[in-house]
Amino acid sequence: MTPTIVIAPGDGIGKEVIPIALKAIETLHPDWTYIPVELGYECYQKTGSSLSDEVFQIMRESDAILFGAVTTPPTKEYQSVLLRIRKELDLYANLRPIQAPNVDILIVRENTEGLYSGIEWIEKDRACTVRVVSETGTRRIIRYALELTKKRNGHLTIGTKANVLASDAYFYEIAVDEISKYPHPIPYTMKYIDLLVLDVIANQARYDVIVTTNIFGDILSDAAAYLCGGLGMLPSANIGVYHAFFEPVHGSAPDIAGTNTANPVGAIRSAALLLQHLGDSDGAASLETAIQNTWAAGIKTKDLFGTASTTEFSDVFLSQLRRLI
Ligand code: IPM
Ligand code: MG
Repeated sequence: MTPTIVIAPGDGIGKEVIPIALKAIETLHPDWTYIPVELGYECYQKTGSSLSDEVFQIMRESDAILFGAVTTPPTKEYQSVLLRIRKELDLYANLRPIQAPNVDILIVRENTEGLYSGIEWIEKDRACTVRVVSETGTRRIIRYALELTKKRNGHLTIGTKANVLASDAYFYEIAVDEISKYPHPIPYTMKYIDLLVLDVIANQARYDVIVTTNIFGDILSDAAAYLCGGLGMLPSANIGVYHAFFEPVHGSAPDIAGTNTANPVGAIRSAALLLQHLGDSDGAASLETAIQNTWAAGIKTKDLFGTASTTEFSDVFLSQLRRLI
């Protein structure tokens, strides 16, 4: 059976970059099934729901989901689509590869708990959010990071604030225990997250796989985007036991939406991670080669100090891709 892929562009520039990533996968796999769905803030304004049960069900039954971005308005009654999907599909590992010449770092962000536990309330004169770090949640993310480190024959950095937060001291304690039980010796270091954010940028060669809790991974990955040309370049994979979800790290960018200037590379690289996940490593490599060839031909978007529009980049990229197959 060929795979079924859900395509969810969402809001803003998600609608501009996801169609390009989709064309890339379709070019390689015209026989796969692609199901477009609507979700996000615009969908909420149109239908009263940002993510319908029907769309959720289609996602549950798919082999992979390619997602763009959604705008999260700061209204109380609006629930973040992205957080709901991550939690309900139990996508516990958020993988964010940071790759550039001389940079090859893999950030493994715990994706279902931490400060994003969703346990929060507002009192008369304060608001509270509970930062949950569970044994099960920690063991599985550390195990996942260990597997990836072993595959890369690399070393693992654990980012924490264990000097201040009991929840992080716990995360580290469980991590060390899980590492000691792992059948292969994996070299590891613990670094405090504040210093780690600086050091990743200043001394990137020191880092290979970095595992950390939810909010720290969120912050670290945006900062690390600096190493590879900005947020437009970064892909991510959200992986659970039963489901897989791929999205560029950037948001819906309402400030540039509709201007045909968005960089589709983060979305295309997310499609490459999707291909890899479904076993097509050659296809994933072709997408990256086509990106590199497009840049080599002088076609770069504005964020990379080029002059190409999103559609100009897309045209050259897709013709480069066709040449490779
Ligand atoms: C990300 C984003 C999301 C997050 C937001 C939009 C909920 O910043 O994927 O990094 O904080 O996880
Ligand atoms: Mg973020």
